[in-house]
Amino acid sequence: MKIFLDTAETSTIRDHFFTGLIDGVTTNPTLIMKSGRDPEDVYAEIVDMGVKDISMEVVGDSDEMLREGLRLSQKFGSVATIKVPCTREGLGACKVLSDEGIKVNVTLIFNAAQAILSAKSGATYVSPFIGRLDDNSVAGLEVVRSISEVYRVQNVKTQILAASIRDVYKVSRAFWNGAHVVTMPPKIFNGMYNHILTDKGLQLFDEDWAEVQALKETKDAYEPPIKTLRNGGDLDAF
Ligand code: E4P
Repeated sequence: MKIFLDTAETSTIRDHFFTGLIDGVTTNPTLIMKSGRDPEDVYAEIVDMGVKDISMEVVGDSDEMLREGLRLSQKFGSVATIKVPCTREGLGACKVLSDEGIKVNVTLIFNAAQAILSAKSGATYVSPFIGRLDDNSVAGLEVVRSISEVYRVQNVKTQILAASIRDVYKVSRAFWNGAHVVTMPPKIFNGMYNHILTDKGLQLFDEDWAEVQALKETKDAYEPPIKTLRNGGDLDAF
């Protein structure tokens, strides 16, 4: 169950990578464009942080994707996962790169048929775009589930990397439906920590702990205050 960050903003990646919970990073031409930086400067900075898996997207025809994929792989080593689109050209490049032992992420996956061809082309990852499917009135999580089922029945080793994630709920549902990896914008990763009952419970614990400290400082014999008997009863309101 791996978590990747879907961004090319290196300062944000750095902040989150130090949690120890981030297994990789995915980028795409749009994210690189938004960063306003040279893609290879971005990749190099992410590599320096110690991130072990970075999806680097290549464009053009099959030969161009292949050439660029080989070059990036030589430059960045095993950290580089070459990202190609699920087209005839992209899968042609995927086959050759995979045969060379280079990791490939086949992106822009919208159904199980595309995932089958990607697996046959040796892909390490397939990236179904959940949010974009939902935008087009197709249940993205259902597509993840159907790919997962085909891969399970056929004993396929290609990993499902759920992408285009727009809310926290989709993260757990994507894993539940068989995704091996979920890539998400940093704000979704941050959102995974949050629950109103955690905040409320923490507030009560902090208040009670302060009371314990205050009691320790008095010379009188310790008597538990009535308030500590509520045993989280205040939470029932939620
Ligand atoms: C990641 O690999 C994808 O490029 C990304 O998740 C797409 O997300 P979007 O549909 O929000 O642009």
